[in-house]
Amino acid sequence: MAYELLTLERRDDGVAVLTLANGKVNPLSRELLAELQQAADELAADLPGAVVVTGGERIFAAGADISQFGGPEEAAEIGPLFHAAIGAIAALPRFVIAAVSGYALGGGCELALGCDYRIASERAVFGQPEILLGIIPGGGGTQRLARVIGPSKAKEMCLTGRQVKAEEALRIGLADEIVAPEELHDRALALAGEAAKGALVAQGITKRVIDAGLSTSLAEGLALEIEGFVEVFGTADSQIGVTSFLEHGPGKAEFTGA
Ligand code: COA
Repeated sequence: MAYELLTLERRDDGVAVLTLANGKVNPLSRELLAELQQAADELAADLPGAVVVTGGERIFAAGADISQFGGPEEAAEIGPLFHAAIGAIAALPRFVIAAVSGYALGGGCELALGCDYRIASERAVFGQPEILLGIIPGGGGTQRLARVIGPSKAKEMCLTGRQVKAEEALRIGLADEIVAPEELHDRALALAGEAAKGALVAQGITKRVIDAGLSTSLAEGLALEIEGFVEVFGTADSQIGVTSFLEHGPGKAEFTGA
């Protein structure tokens, strides 16, 4: 598929790398959101082993394209475009890793939050600055940020628009690791490459159960886990993994991804 505002590379190790490429600040315009959605659909139709989502070096993404804002009518169109595109990336049944090199603001932060794991460069800065425009996050920020860092910190960030640098992001759980800027790409690819060699169907089930469980009661979440636990024993990789353990010990299984 041809893209103009992002690139989608499929590597030999099974990792797909989705890179935003919309000018200097990577605004998440309607057009870029449409391409993000298209890329997520393309990945869902032909699943890679893992995904890395990244942006520009100084600016991961500066958020929604503010020049496309208008009144409630435009908001009613743009919000759902964000939710659909980021939701489609979040729903991929694979490990999706955000590699954040610089500013991830507004929709940029929301896109990173739609990923399963965030690796930040020492220069990364996260924020939901919408309130400084007199508006609120519309790309999932109020919900995903609160789930990732807890409601108090999420409210503080969203109500003040304060930006959070990498060290603090790591401390509050918004970033999962920090690496030197020059190591960011390699670290994200290494982690994704490791995941891509794993029991992929089981990874997808795990992710589905964790995500679904987060928006339900403990009892319902545990029931979802049992469903997934039963389902996973129907996969070829579960047989490979268990047999390999019994014959050769831990960590030696060579999975097929099926
Ligand atoms: N939408 C549309 N245009 C944007 C934008 C956005 N989210 N973010 C930046 N731009 C534009 C600026 O208007 C500027 O345009 P110009 O060159 O025509 O004047 C250009 O991109 C460069 O921005 P500038 O602020 O000069 O760059 P910077 O390097 O000093 O700062 C940012 C970069 C990302 C820190 C800063 O632009 C910023 O804070 N952007 C807004 C973030 C935001 O509020 N996002 C939430 C949107 S709801």
